[in-house]
Amino acid sequence: MGTIGNAVSQESGFKLVGFSNFVRTNPRSDRFKVKRFHHVEFWCSDATNTARRFAWGLGMPIVAKSDLSTGNLTHASYLIRSGDLCFLFTAPYSPSISAADNLPPSATASIPTFDRASCCAFSATHGLAVRTIAIEVEDAETAFRTSVSHGAKPRAEPVLLENRAVIAEVQLYGDVVLRYVSYKSTSNVTADSPDSWFLPRFEAVDESSSFPLDYGIRRLDHAVGNVPELAQVVSYVKQFTGFHEFAEFTAEDVGTSDSGLNSVVLANNDEMVLLPMNEPVFGTKRKSQIQTYLEHNEGPGLQHLALVSEDIFRTLREMRKCSFVGGFEFMPSPPPTYYKNLKNRTGDVLSDEQIKECEELGILVDRDDQGTLLQIFTKPVGDRPTIFIEIIQRVGCMLRDEQGKVYQKGGCGGFGKGNFSELFKSIEEYEKTLEAKRVSQPTTM
Ligand SMILES: [Fe+2]
Repeated sequence: MGTIGNAVSQESGFKLVGFSNFVRTNPRSDRFKVKRFHHVEFWCSDATNTARRFAWGLGMPIVAKSDLSTGNLTHASYLIRSGDLCFLFTAPYSPSISAADNLPPSATASIPTFDRASCCAFSATHGLAVRTIAIEVEDAETAFRTSVSHGAKPRAEPVLLENRAVIAEVQLYGDVVLRYVSYKSTSNVTADSPDSWFLPRFEAVDESSSFPLDYGIRRLDHAVGNVPELAQVVSYVKQFTGFHEFAEFTAEDVGTSDSGLNSVVLANNDEMVLLPMNEPVFGTKRKSQIQTYLEHNEGPGLQHLALVSEDIFRTLREMRKCSFVGGFEFMPSPPPTYYKNLKNRTGDVLSDEQIKECEELGILVDRDDQGTLLQIFTKPVGDRPTIFIEIIQRVGCMLRDEQGKVYQKGGCGGFGKGNFSELFKSIEEYEKTLEAKRVSQPTTM
């Protein structure tokens, strides 16, 4: 169990030192070549409705499908995309459909690692939740074998898809898997086919002429997990990936007086695949938000996905327009005093006009020694107070690579440590409203 500033694993010797004592280094210790986040897959009980809701709420059109209409008798999958960000929504069909054709369930599946019983159990246990974080690697088979030989629990052996791509899966935390994706060849692939930018066995969908959707979201920045004990999971993931610690925060750094967490961010060599993980801290007046998540999610799982916008003001204006008509609602905005102080905190980076726009849209701002982070959090996106989405824009840390191409350093501006207390305050306020409702329910004798 995590206690304030005292998360120590006896076996691993892993110990949190806290934000102020943490010295950032990049040992470039990846065990295999990691390229980027590839996609995120949600397991649902109905993929059509979930995909449509996310498409509308995030301005990410449906761009590919694999379902009965494409010959998939095992699962319905819909892919939404904006820039480099891909979300896949998958739900099972009745097993009698493929059985009637005397086909094994995997014969027509576009994602052959899909398992109907696991998917049904997953949805029943967790509600709407992320099953898979997929990263593109140079060679998925090598990544899988190397991971397993360094302690990763295998979840799906490497599978070659249409001689084009390979996928393989290992356990990340709880029921969440890390999926490795690599591409074999580009021969016989046309540029507009999903084979060239996603996976084979999907058919392209183009609804842009009837309804263009784009709110400016471009890629996944970080994918955060909640676990009961950080030391064990961090050691496990570090061990099989070789990822290094990019940042850490303890309860003293981020907690309010009422709730807290310890957090570690793991990163790959180029620090563009960022995997933060949180554990609850006990002994505080109110229950830790992380503990609340673990109870409602019935175990560890993915807590939030941080999506990078190329223009957070535009993204927020668009997202807020559809908040109450099928989109996502946001956590309550911080009080006006927050924005008065913001001038002192970030006045050299943001203009008065931009600070005003942040206030109008409820955007939080934080900075680290390298850059500035603009961020905002949605309310939980499903029935349970579990998974939510963060929209961010990072400002600063522009570097030039060997070819002279300008790029932004990963994790620039941090993760909003200074805003954690604002987030927790707002989540707690939200929970209090739920509790108040529960108390006011009529009771029967
Ligand atoms: Fe985040």
